[in-house]
Amino acid sequence: MIMVATENISIQKTKVSRISEVDFNNIPFGKIYTDHMFLADYKNGEWQNLRIIPYGYMPISPATPALHYGQSIFEGLKAIKTDKDEILIFRPQDNWKRLNISAHRMCMPHLPEEIFMEGLKTLISLDSNWIPQAEGSSLYIRPFMYSADEYIGIRPSENFTFQIILCPVGAYYSTPVKVKVESHYTRAVAGGTGFAKAGGNYGGAIYPAKLAQDKGYHQLIWTDGVEHKYIEESGTMNVMFVMNNKLITPALSDSILAGITRDSVLKLAQHLGIETEERKISVQELREGLEKGTVTEAFGAGPAATIAHIELIGFDDRDFVLPPVAERKIANQIYQSLDAIKRGSSQDVFNWLVKW
Ligand code: COI
Repeated sequence: MIMVATENISIQKTKVSRISEVDFNNIPFGKIYTDHMFLADYKNGEWQNLRIIPYGYMPISPATPALHYGQSIFEGLKAIKTDKDEILIFRPQDNWKRLNISAHRMCMPHLPEEIFMEGLKTLISLDSNWIPQAEGSSLYIRPFMYSADEYIGIRPSENFTFQIILCPVGAYYSTPVKVKVESHYTRAVAGGTGFAKAGGNYGGAIYPAKLAQDKGYHQLIWTDGVEHKYIEESGTMNVMFVMNNKLITPALSDSILAGITRDSVLKLAQHLGIETEERKISVQELREGLEKGTVTEAFGAGPAATIAHIELIGFDDRDFVLPPVAERKIANQIYQSLDAIKRGSSQDVFNWLVKW
């Protein structure tokens, strides 16, 4: 096991902080980056050169397979700062585990937990002034890994970079979302990379999502790649429905991302006495439930989106509007309980927080 201590991470601080340029009461998602970033290189079979340097553009070989073949993976998680200046990160070890599941599928090296956790903590401590404290805001953490070979052919790469960047963020979706059930395009298929947080899964989804956005929807609900008969996930989050007072979500498969927020919502719902089901949900069942009014709530769950209420679900020939957000007892209860745990204002019953 590699032991990493903070002193093994070299730190080069920025000469001039950009923090005074930021309006912390009005933060767009994903456009503002903190002063520093963490990097580690994988060379000659080992991780080395752990370092924090000023955030900025990086030299990269034009021949790197990350650019040509999409050999890149990423994670997303959030940290907050309490009124007592304590820093809380939500379930980072689970992101570390999933990063390695993605790495395995994409033929990339295992990243030791110590590098992930120490890199994260050292970087966040250094840029802790950037953690926004306004309501609804947080520090979004983006760990990622990519091939750093200089080679045009297809083969397992030998060199990789692992990196972490940080963004103070507000809400990803500022209003409840309108989604369309996709009946033609496919995000992921059995045996593919849908369960991995691999860059290409998201790149390939932009065009179909754009077609839906041109018609006034925010996002798609992806369906299975064989018959488009079963609900899978939304591009930026897992999807959940309240049907007949039960919280129901598609069971995981190799074409659905095993969301950490999804898992947290399910565990919390069970803890709150809400009945949950993970199973196949057919498009037909969803549509009939919307027609009869037995689907009373729908929401997306993801680190960026948190709990994003779905206000409208569209099919090729018809849109269904769901009941108002104020009436959504289950989603609102789960959102409040989850948020209270993340912010340290209620007991961390599942031991999800890493704090210092
Ligand atoms: C996240 O929720 O962290 C994601 O990775 C979704 C998206 C921003 C790609």
